[in-house]
Amino acid sequence: RNKNINAKLVLLGDVGAGKSSLVLRFVKGQFVDFQESTIGAAFFSQTLAVNDATIKFEIWDTAGQERYHSLAPMYYRGAAAAVVVYDTTNQASFACAKKWVTELQEQGNTNIVMALAGNKSDLLDSRKVTAEEAQVYAQENGLFFMETSAKTAQNVNEIFHEIAKRLPRA
Ligand code: GTP
Ligand code: MG
Repeated sequence: RNKNINAKLVLLGDVGAGKSSLVLRFVKGQFVDFQESTIGAAFFSQTLAVNDATIKFEIWDTAGQERYHSLAPMYYRGAAAAVVVYDTTNQASFACAKKWVTELQEQGNTNIVMALAGNKSDLLDSRKVTAEEAQVYAQENGLFFMETSAKTAQNVNEIFHEIAKRLPRA
């Protein structure tokens, strides 16, 4: 028995963390070195088959620039899943990710599936946030954590696949 599930998914995180790059990798299998900063938000959709179900992700890629922060609730309201993205080479972006998690915990869907993505894992020499500290934070806050690279594609399909597996089946 195959179920078709539509799932609204939102990406949140600091400017330049790699939200759009992760979506571009997931949806189109592409990466660009000079991805333009998102204005407002961008919409994508992508379908994934997991076990007994076909999940159609309706993806809102939000803008990390502070002036767009007030728009975010429009995109996370009613979302079944959220990917909170930080840049592993930037401590401030990890702090920003924690703020997004807190906002989602306070104002998001009660049953939202939350993933924490430590992106740019390919930049080994510039790492500022350890996988251990992010894993501890994620565990304490009920998220699952993966380090990703939109550039090399490491864990990009995997993180969306893991979300799909965790979505409640109607
Ligand atoms: P806003 O739209 O401004 O909020 O930023 P964003 O989170 O969408 O970041 P974006 O995807 O635009 O990426 C910012 C920059 O980081 C771009 O120049 C990307 O090429 C680069 N980038 C994104 N992901 C990776 C990655 O995994 N590895 C490396 N090396 N660079 C990346
Ligand atoms: Mg963007």
